[in-house]
Amino acid sequence: MRRPWIVGVSGASGTPYAASVLCALLDAGEPVDLVVSRAARLTLLDETGRPFRDAHWKDDLAAWLGGRDGAPRDISGDDVTYWPAGDLAAGPSSGSYPARGMVVVPASTAACAGIAIGLSKDLLQRSCEVNLKEHRPVVVVPRETPVTRSHLEHLIALHDAGAVVLPASPGFYTAGAKASAAQLVDFVAGKVLDAIGVPHTLFTRWNGQLGGGR
Ligand SMILES: Cc1cc2nc3c(=O)[nH]c(=O)nc-3n(C[C@H](O)[C@H](O)[C@H](O)COP(=O)(O)O)c2cc1C
Repeated sequence: MRRPWIVGVSGASGTPYAASVLCALLDAGEPVDLVVSRAARLTLLDETGRPFRDAHWKDDLAAWLGGRDGAPRDISGDDVTYWPAGDLAAGPSSGSYPARGMVVVPASTAACAGIAIGLSKDLLQRSCEVNLKEHRPVVVVPRETPVTRSHLEHLIALHDAGAVVLPASPGFYTAGAKASAAQLVDFVAGKVLDAIGVPHTLFTRWNGQLGGGR
């Protein structure tokens, strides 16, 4: 039985984190169900110049995930299902849908709040709540700074509900102080894959040697 990871992309800055997580999951041969919130279309447009349209999701996804060299990713061999964020009857809206778990990357403060209080205002929030209630692995990657008390309280609620709260907070120790933006993005994405137990080569692991990443 196909048991995909649900990847929810919400409208926080940081669409490169989502692209890196998606590519790494697909490179690892993991099936993926993708949900892109309405606001995430704005951040994607802002950060990449690319649209993300329900009717053209395959082309738009291929262009978005297409490498840092600008060529589209060939997603013909990838196991991706796309669900519009407004489709509250979609598979991932039910606990009986066979999902492995869910990653919300990046996670807006609005998405964190909505998931924490069970708002289910769209498919992204609903499917994340479903995966929490089913006690499946859930990783939430918040991107906001500074934060208010209510942001922190929502993150605590998510933690207490079983989610791994994994802030988009790259470490410099694997690539050193001259790390590129791509390396810092991949560091966060690699921590996401570590959290859900999917093998990856997104960063070099700490080996106990100071300066080993330089
Ligand atoms: C260009 C742009 C950048 C944004 N960056 C952030 C951000 O980094 N963090 C955040 O929490 N919200 C950010 N927002 C605001 C969210 O998009 C907004 O709260 C939205 O309601 C989130 O909806 P969603 O959770 O359904 O995606 C940004 C909005 C835009 C248009």
